[in-house]
Amino acid sequence: MRLCIALDLEEKSQNLKLLDLLKGLDIWVKVGLRSYIRDGANFIEEIRKIDPNFKIFLDLKLYDIPNTMADAAFECAKIGVDMITLHASSGKIAMQNVMERLKKYSHPPLVFAITALTSFDEQDFRNIYNAPLSQHAIMLAKLAFASGLDGAVCSVHESMLIKQATQSSFFTLTPGIRPFCENNDDQKRVSDILGAKKALSDFIVIGRPIYKNPDPLGTVQKILKML
Ligand code: C5P
Repeated sequence: MRLCIALDLEEKSQNLKLLDLLKGLDIWVKVGLRSYIRDGANFIEEIRKIDPNFKIFLDLKLYDIPNTMADAAFECAKIGVDMITLHASSGKIAMQNVMERLKKYSHPPLVFAITALTSFDEQDFRNIYNAPLSQHAIMLAKLAFASGLDGAVCSVHESMLIKQATQSSFFTLTPGIRPFCENNDDQKRVSDILGAKKALSDFIVIGRPIYKNPDPLGTVQKILKML
C-alpha cells in the first residue's frame, strides 16, 4: 500500500514547506484542484526540484465529452505526472479515448476513475443518482476496468468489492483515511489504515490529518510504518 499526501494548503509556500519537510520519503504527492488552479504546471516543476523521486498525482477529476477528455489527459501526460483521475461517469467512449491517446507516451500516467466521492453517504448518493451507492460504484469501476483504466477511486468500503468484481490487479485508491481518529471533516465514508489494508487498498490518500497536524513529518513517519 502506498501513501499519497494531498497538497491542499491555502498557500503555495505552505505546500512547498510541507514538501521540504517530507523530502527523501517514499511517498506520492497529490496536486488537486486548489493547487493546480492557483499555481499551475510550474508547481509540479517546483515539486520535482524539491525531490525528483516524489511520485506526482495530478487529481483534476476530468469530466467532459470524449474529445475534450482525451485532449486534457494528453496535456496532463505532457506535464509528466505519474497518475491522473477522471470520472467513470464520463462513460466508456471517453475513457477509451483517453487511454488510446495516452498510448503515444512511453511512460503514460496511471489513470484512475472516480466512482463515488468519499464525501457521500448512502443517502447523499441516492439523492443524486437514485441508486444504491456500492452497487453503482462497482458498476462504474467495472466500466473503467473494461475501458482499460488502471484503477478506481473509491472508499475503503468498496475497495474489496471492486477488486472482486474486476481483478485483484485493478488498483484501488482510497481517500477518506483518518489514521488516528481525527475529525472526519466533510468525508463520510472513512476508514483507518488497518481498514484500508484489510480492504486491499493499493493507494491511500491523506490530506488534512497530515497537513493540519502540528507535526506533519512525525505523522507521516508513523503512517509509513503502518503500511
Ligand atoms: O483532507 P482529506 O484527507 O479529506 O483529503 C482527501 C483528498 O482526496 C482531497 O484532496 C480530495 O480532493 C481527494 N479526494 C477525495 N475523494 C475522492 C477523490 C479525491 O477526498 N473521491
